[in-house]
Amino acid sequence: MSNFYEAEVLSVHHWTDRLFSFTTTREPSFRYQSGQFAMIGLDVEGKPLMRAYSMVSPHYEEQLEFLSIKVPDGPLTSHLQNIRIGDCILVGRKASGTLLSQNLLPGKHLYLLGTGTGLAPFMSIVRDPDIYEKFEKVILVHGCRQVDELAYQKRIAEDLPSDEFLGEIVAGRLVYYPTVTREPFENQGRIPDLLVSEHFYEKLGVPPLDVGTDRFMLCGSPAMLKDTVEVLETHGLTEGNMSRPGHYVIERAFVDK
Ligand code: A2P
Repeated sequence: MSNFYEAEVLSVHHWTDRLFSFTTTREPSFRYQSGQFAMIGLDVEGKPLMRAYSMVSPHYEEQLEFLSIKVPDGPLTSHLQNIRIGDCILVGRKASGTLLSQNLLPGKHLYLLGTGTGLAPFMSIVRDPDIYEKFEKVILVHGCRQVDELAYQKRIAEDLPSDEFLGEIVAGRLVYYPTVTREPFENQGRIPDLLVSEHFYEKLGVPPLDVGTDRFMLCGSPAMLKDTVEVLETHGLTEGNMSRPGHYVIERAFVDK
């Protein structure tokens, strides 16, 4: 059996000229936990060209959803950005990733910190009822350059709270903090700067960073990860992994994307 299967593209949404998302069919045997990623790609010049992509869709959804940047000369995304309904993409049969609550020590507040397409795994996690059994509050911070890059704003801020099943679970528990760095917006600033800002915690309605109560999941560019980890480590937080849970976890799969 091949390591990949073909999934059919069911919808494509172009958010900006740098960002798009799409849904595909899902093979019933393809299982994953919310927050994980799979290798996905296309046949390019007769060879499978695959990259790690987090599932935007929670583990229980029938379809798969992915969020992608468009790099004009990117080996994969220069092709992937042209996919249309009915096309096929390749999906790896195995999911993996470190953004799992079992890699974190018990806590009260879970911060999901993502920049750009780093939002993707968190879209899956905030729609997984299990996470609300483990944390009192789930705080989703999404940082982008521009307002129109804040993908899924409506889904997070409107559709989720009014969802028949999830609405009740997320009420008063899920806090969404979109932030923009290169144009005016209600929230501004880079994530590492926010983490040391009193104003940020006041707006969220929670006490400032506390190693005793706060846990973190990070997904973004190498520079964002480095600067954010620096702040967390200064506050005494340690990284968790599959063998030893900690105060924060990082998705490193996208470093070379
Ligand atoms: P900035 O506009 O100040 O560069 P990108 O689209 O380049 O991946 O950026 C997504 C978001 O991540 C932008 O808001 C960008 O801010 C921010 N960002 C870039 N570098 C860092 C960093 N070292 N730490 C935190 N955020 C960063």
